[in-house]
Amino acid sequence: MEQTKTILLTGASSGIGLEMARILATRNHHLVLVSRSDDRLGPVADELRQHTSAEVITYAVDLSEPEAVEHLFSFCEARQLQIDILINNAGFGIFDEHVAIDPKKLRQMLQLNVSAVAELCQIFGAQMKRRRSGIILNVASTAAYQATPYFAAYGASKSFVLCFSEALAKELEDYDVQVSCLAPGPTDTAFFDAMDPKQIAEGHMFQKAGRKNVRTVAQAGVDLLDYGGMTRVVGLSNRLAVLGNRFLPRSIVASVSKRLLKPLDTKVSAQLISLSWEIQGVQAKVNPTSDRSNIRYAFCVESAYFIGYTVQVSKQLYKV
Ligand SMILES: NC(=O)c1ccc[n+]([C@@H]2O[C@H](COP(=O)([O-])OP(=O)(O)OC[C@H]3O[C@@H](n4cnc5c(N)ncnc54)[C@H](OP(=O)(O)O)[C@@H]3O)[C@@H](O)[C@H]2O)c1
Repeated sequence: MEQTKTILLTGASSGIGLEMARILATRNHHLVLVSRSDDRLGPVADELRQHTSAEVITYAVDLSEPEAVEHLFSFCEARQLQIDILINNAGFGIFDEHVAIDPKKLRQMLQLNVSAVAELCQIFGAQMKRRRSGIILNVASTAAYQATPYFAAYGASKSFVLCFSEALAKELEDYDVQVSCLAPGPTDTAFFDAMDPKQIAEGHMFQKAGRKNVRTVAQAGVDLLDYGGMTRVVGLSNRLAVLGNRFLPRSIVASVSKRLLKPLDTKVSAQLISLSWEIQGVQAKVNPTSDRSNIRYAFCVESAYFIGYTVQVSKQLYKV
């Protein structure tokens, strides 16, 4: 992607979206950054303008509001912005028993994670189809690949994003419009801030030490823009888990998922995951800058994670 493009990026004020904005700005693309508040977008735009020659426009809108997509589209039309690349990244999750969720929050999440994504793809996708060029990148999650108890509606919303993106990719490929989907696993961002820290401590798979570096995940998204591809799961252990799911009955996968996600679950896999973070921490102290030791940490982490997952699957299969 060498030419300058105009990129509309939702959820650009923090986390994966912010890191993608930073990477894309260094390539001097024009950026239209979207999130709910000007207070958070303003400093991001200032930072990017200061360090790059990218043109940066911000638009604050709550995409969980029913008319938000139309307002955003009108804003782009009024400024005669031709969106070459649409990145649907804004999203949030609710981690709780489904029956305990606040219904208003549930509606907001589904509106943002599902409806806004589908509507933005429709309205900007139509323009891309007419021009016979463009790229859409939707951010799903590894949660998309199986049932996710205690994260039920969030996981299902990401299953929508995944299947929808793959279907849309096939529809629009005849018009030279690329549609790609990024599926990160747990990533170290503000995504987890809304969760009760006690529920995701003590070796839970969401604990901070187990999350991927946000830059790595953002770079994987930018690589999809650069090199194409329909779907990318970020990280070897996540790819192995997704692959493993295909060969197992869905009920077993759902039970494994329940064990891994259950708040404060301290069973075998969680202990193994926890152990791998300790190994990683010790190695980081020994030689924090060596690439070789980085590869070793990654290997330890990915292996322990995968062993934990395999133990859980075996326990379900043999009802241990
Ligand atoms: N972190 C993970 O472990 C993980 C794993 C897999 C997939 N993901 C997905 O990655 C995407 C980015 O998440 P993240 O981890 O980077 O989380 P994050 O740091 O919390 O960022 C979320 C972004 O979305 C924006 N946003 C939230 N609600 C919005 C709304 N109603 N309207 C417009 N913008 C809104 C936020 O900005 P404002 O608050 O300023 O509105 C923020 O810029 C999400 O789709 C998430 O589901 C995350």
